[in-house]
Amino acid sequence: MCGIFGYIGPKQVSNMLVEGLRRLEYRGYDSTGIAVKNGNISIFKKVGKVADMESILPRAIHGTVGIAHTRWATHGGVTDENAHPHESFDSKVVIVHNGIIENSRSLRKHLVSQGIELNSETDSEALAHMIAIELNQDNNPLEAVKRCLKSAIGTWGLCALFKEHDVIVVARNGSPIVLGQGDGETFVSSDPHALTPHTQRVVYLDDGQVAVLDSNGIEVSRLHGGQIDTNVTLLENEWGVADLGDYSHFMLKEIYEQPEALRQCVRGRMDLATGNGRLRGLKIKPAELRKVPHIRIIGCGTALHAGMIGQLVIEKMARLPAVSHVASEFRHNDPVIDPEALHFAISQSGETADTLSAVKEIQLKGGQVHGVVNVVGSTIARQCGTGVYIHSGPEQAVASTKAFSNMVAALSMFAIQIARSRDLTKEKAIEYISALEEIPDLIEQYLQDQGPIMEAVDALKDAKSVLFLGRGVSAPVAAEGALKLMEVAYIPCLAYPAGEMKHGPIALLEKGSPVVIIAPDDHVKQKTISAIHECRARGAKIILIHEQGDDISQEGDISIAVPKVHNLFSPLLTVVPLQLIAYHTALQLGCDVDRPRNLAKSVTVE
Ligand code: F6R
Repeated sequence: MCGIFGYIGPKQVSNMLVEGLRRLEYRGYDSTGIAVKNGNISIFKKVGKVADMESILPRAIHGTVGIAHTRWATHGGVTDENAHPHESFDSKVVIVHNGIIENSRSLRKHLVSQGIELNSETDSEALAHMIAIELNQDNNPLEAVKRCLKSAIGTWGLCALFKEHDVIVVARNGSPIVLGQGDGETFVSSDPHALTPHTQRVVYLDDGQVAVLDSNGIEVSRLHGGQIDTNVTLLENEWGVADLGDYSHFMLKEIYEQPEALRQCVRGRMDLATGNGRLRGLKIKPAELRKVPHIRIIGCGTALHAGMIGQLVIEKMARLPAVSHVASEFRHNDPVIDPEALHFAISQSGETADTLSAVKEIQLKGGQVHGVVNVVGSTIARQCGTGVYIHSGPEQAVASTKAFSNMVAALSMFAIQIARSRDLTKEKAIEYISALEEIPDLIEQYLQDQGPIMEAVDALKDAKSVLFLGRGVSAPVAAEGALKLMEVAYIPCLAYPAGEMKHGPIALLEKGSPVVIIAPDDHVKQKTISAIHECRARGAKIILIHEQGDDISQEGDISIAVPKVHNLFSPLLTVVPLQLIAYHTALQLGCDVDRPRNLAKSVTVE
């Protein structure tokens, strides 16, 4: 959740640390800090965003070694004292830490009993003191960090800086860490995205590994064992650019990037002539696909909603049972895993701890799990080993938009591929592929003529709560629309399959209550119209998302039309006005659209 950046080399480090944090700010933005080694170690930290911390920096900070952190609070409130970096009692060690130290209470108690004064309420600070105590034994930074971590229980992405040594020691257990190798300079980050301006050559640290960085290179060893070879990977170029361009916010930019992102996702993966899919990263032969008894899709938030749509598309095309699961529940429910079944872990960041735990649970029980992931080389992608990269490009806004569309597209392509290994005819498959390939153009068409979005915003912005309804593939779209509005505009939203409304949520409706209804022209439309009538009868105001040329438009108080598309793929169109509604409502309410309160882009704690 939090972001880490560090550098050791010949260059002045302070500006680089601030820039690194800017690229990581979407990971957490309660408070920010940097530490620069310059004889002593100078620390600057402050509650707020990178710009707030930058405002307290002196004009020049000399030093060519440093570490930096942007925080999403877990232990201890959002205060300057709790912000990272944390310094040891003797000022010889400074650390930044992502993750949670579960036994921090007892570690802190033990430190206090040794006369050490703790300056923060965090679990992380204890590590700085413990490393300093160990360092006093043999003055060996690597061994000091290793001995300290052997007494810690929990998760860490840890960087330690030493007053008397020109090295950074880094450790990983359950919190992502990636190292960057430049020419005569070395970097560390919690996210490859912050490394791309500096180097494309990276080393992914695995759980249980520790590394010593100096300006000449990286030495990796195991916490409980010997040295290991460093495998340098080249980052993909496409990941490099994530600037705002002419857009005012990343969320808007990413909404507009959906057509191109979808083209990237689908390109070269479908054969229109034969009606076959070519998702090679899955590494499953058609004969194996034929035998799969069922599919399970696991994810959180927006990824889960994409998975819920994928489930319906797979079941419809391949006539194969498919089910989606909330990742944070999965492992704890002790699921029965069939080794013949296929599991998909779906995640934009590839770092979501709940989803990663589900992956490990499936693997532990002998199951096959494939990633449907955006960030190349991320933990979930590497843990799964096989899967489908969704190729959305960098998603910087905390609220996910273009990754959702590409997740739906990736699962739809898989649905076609597995359906073809079964009973789907070539003709039908070609129909699906053509429909999928048309979608980017249709989204572009919609973006040029968005309909009365601002009228919808007016109807929603002062609402006490908003109900979102849809049926079939539109039920998860309703859930996604509700999630978007809730997370960026802080309006309480409830999403229900339209038929469930009369079983409870209808009690909320009173004169003027806004209800957003997604009703493409599919086989459940007539049933959705009944729900619309039930809402209207209670005085609700209907904001209707429907397909162009459909008479249903008369059913809405505010009707927003999207281009007509194949029924199974309608979510890729109907979600776009919902994303725009959330974006513009948040703007009208003065919310920080790209960095909503309390959230973080990558949720690496369970
Ligand atoms: C919604 C949102 C979150 C994420 C969820 C999963 O806009 O950003 O709900 O979708 O935390 O994240 P990933 O896809 O990175 O696993």
